[in-house]
Amino acid sequence: MFVPNFRRQPLYIFILFQIIFFILYYTFQNPNCIFSPKPDYEWISSEKYISIDGKQKHLYDHNMPLIFIGGMPRSGTTLLRVLLDAHPDIRCGEETRVIPRILSNRQSWLKAPFESKRLQEAGITTEVLDSAIRAFILEIIVRHGKPAPRLCNKDPFTLRSAHYLQYLFPNSKFIFMIRDGRAVVHSIISRKVTISGFDLNDYRDCLKKMEHSHDSYGPEKCFPVYYEQLVLNPTKWMHKILDFLDVPWNSTVLHHEKLVEMGDISLSKLERSTDQVIKPINLEALSKWVGHIPDDVVNDMYKIAPMLKKIGLRSIR
Ligand SMILES: *[C@@H]1O[C@H](CO)[C@@H](O)[C@H](O)[C@H]1NC(C)=O
Repeated sequence: MFVPNFRRQPLYIFILFQIIFFILYYTFQNPNCIFSPKPDYEWISSEKYISIDGKQKHLYDHNMPLIFIGGMPRSGTTLLRVLLDAHPDIRCGEETRVIPRILSNRQSWLKAPFESKRLQEAGITTEVLDSAIRAFILEIIVRHGKPAPRLCNKDPFTLRSAHYLQYLFPNSKFIFMIRDGRAVVHSIISRKVTISGFDLNDYRDCLKKMEHSHDSYGPEKCFPVYYEQLVLNPTKWMHKILDFLDVPWNSTVLHHEKLVEMGDISLSKLERSTDQVIKPINLEALSKWVGHIPDDVVNDMYKIAPMLKKIGLRSIR
């Protein structure tokens, strides 16, 4: 029989209070965990994903095999998207700018503990948010250009969210452009491409920051393409890329400049790379940076950016 030990009673009472306190505290902090109300209704949008293009209707939804191209700015992402745009089955179009922004907004909503609690309280669960962001991204990709069997998006920084995009669009594929960091940094600095967090007067700083953005390799469905190899051997690499994307080969991808001239590929007057991609594929950009990087940065190159060594680049001034 259980006989309370009266000498120890204060301890029992203490523990009891402790338990009650934790239950109340937890309930107060996470009201939804205790009284989680599962709604007995479901929202279904009607005819939402139909775009009417003249007389043709094109259905679209999040199971489409979307293509996302990303990488550092100035690493050849525009070139690749224009090459793909030259294929009759693919449409990429200009940078949307709002897609990476909604992705980074989501990050900051989720990261701020108070904000994310407020959203939960307001019924904006992760599920609701994901569904809204999915619809937003899809609408932008679909409606900012003409219809095509395969739609593609190129906003350099979207690949930071490759895992999330893969979750939103399960059949999507990713192409990650990689280019010699020294060339990228020289291009960023000489073309004054503002990127938040990069000091445009400092090669050392840019090279270091660049390095970190290489950490964000996407999931298995991500195909890495080296800019240098692409421009040196476009036929071989475009074959590989189209194979990866399950798109049949068409030699139009090797002559994008003709389609640009005819106005068949949509370009933005305000994007920095536009003046370069109107030309045929060329090797000009491979060595432009040589001679521009300060000696002290070249001497410390592998310390600043160990990735350069990993991918086998030797120090050239
Ligand atoms: C390649 O694309 C052109 C232009 O759309 C088309 O006329 C041609 O039939 C295509 N070639 C192949 C092999 O699919």
